[in-house]
Amino acid sequence: MIIVPGPASQELGRRVADLLNLKAVPMVYKSFPDGESYLRFGGDVAGEEVVVIQSTGPPQDTHMIQLLLMVDAAKNLGAKRVVAVVPYLAYARQDKRFLSGETFSIKTIMTLLEACRVDRVVTVNFHNPRILKDFQVSVTNLSAVGLLAKYFKDRDFEGAFSLTLGKIAPEVANQADKVLKGGYGCIPTKRDRLTGKVKLEEKPLPVRGEDVIIFDDIISSGGTISKAVKLVNRQGARRICAACVHPLLSEETLERLSKNGAEVVVATDTVPSPVSLVSVTPIIVQALKTSSTVKTETAPLRAR
Ligand code: R5P
Repeated sequence: MIIVPGPASQELGRRVADLLNLKAVPMVYKSFPDGESYLRFGGDVAGEEVVVIQSTGPPQDTHMIQLLLMVDAAKNLGAKRVVAVVPYLAYARQDKRFLSGETFSIKTIMTLLEACRVDRVVTVNFHNPRILKDFQVSVTNLSAVGLLAKYFKDRDFEGAFSLTLGKIAPEVANQADKVLKGGYGCIPTKRDRLTGKVKLEEKPLPVRGEDVIIFDDIISSGGTISKAVKLVNRQGARRICAACVHPLLSEETLERLSKNGAEVVVATDTVPSPVSLVSVTPIIVQALKTSSTVKTETAPLRAR
């Protein structure tokens, strides 16, 4: 097996290689002045099981094209098998045609990966895991929720209430609760498909005087999780923290969350960010050691 960290996941890729005790094969890359990507494998991949590690956080389109170029090139260069580790798989939120005429974006992405002959995709907290069975590509969907919860447990948050958002599977809040052991709940959300605005149901929660950790798969603008922070604040929660797997943070997000009352914001390193304090390296390594025919831990952070 050879590990090739892609342009978007240099650090994570190196960590995975180190933990597997393998030498990472470098990917030589640059951007042309007009924005196109140039990529070259810095080692021989013929006959090898090639693990390309490339997340597709911002800028999503560039990182996605780079991923496809690498997978296809590895196959064309004679790789025996190509595994794409895509810690954050972009476009997964557009998991159907919500309004007529819209693109079904994640389907297109999966079609492209399949066309590039990827043998296996390993990802983390895919937005809506229930649709994975509809695609030909073999996807191993890992969960980083336990790792995030452990981060808080190790920092004096044992016994905190675990809260998840949306029509999210309660088993996700349950995963966090297994570590934090302070009880768990979900707040139903509704998105206006035209304006994009999200509304949270004003639901009473047993959080008075309690520490609360709010988990979401993604924090982007911070709008959704801010509403949840305010809601539990109104209900008398003590310390309120925000956690997500994929920090697609826009410029104002962290300031916005702090202004709205989030004491701490923590994310994983599926996407590098100033709050990517929890590494998904161990779960990726574990998955790579597991046969691709077995769908390892399929744990949704959000399931409809
Ligand atoms: C939505 O479906 C996702 O699970 C997240 O809740 C959403 O992407 C968060 O976005 P924002 O931080 O912009 O509210």
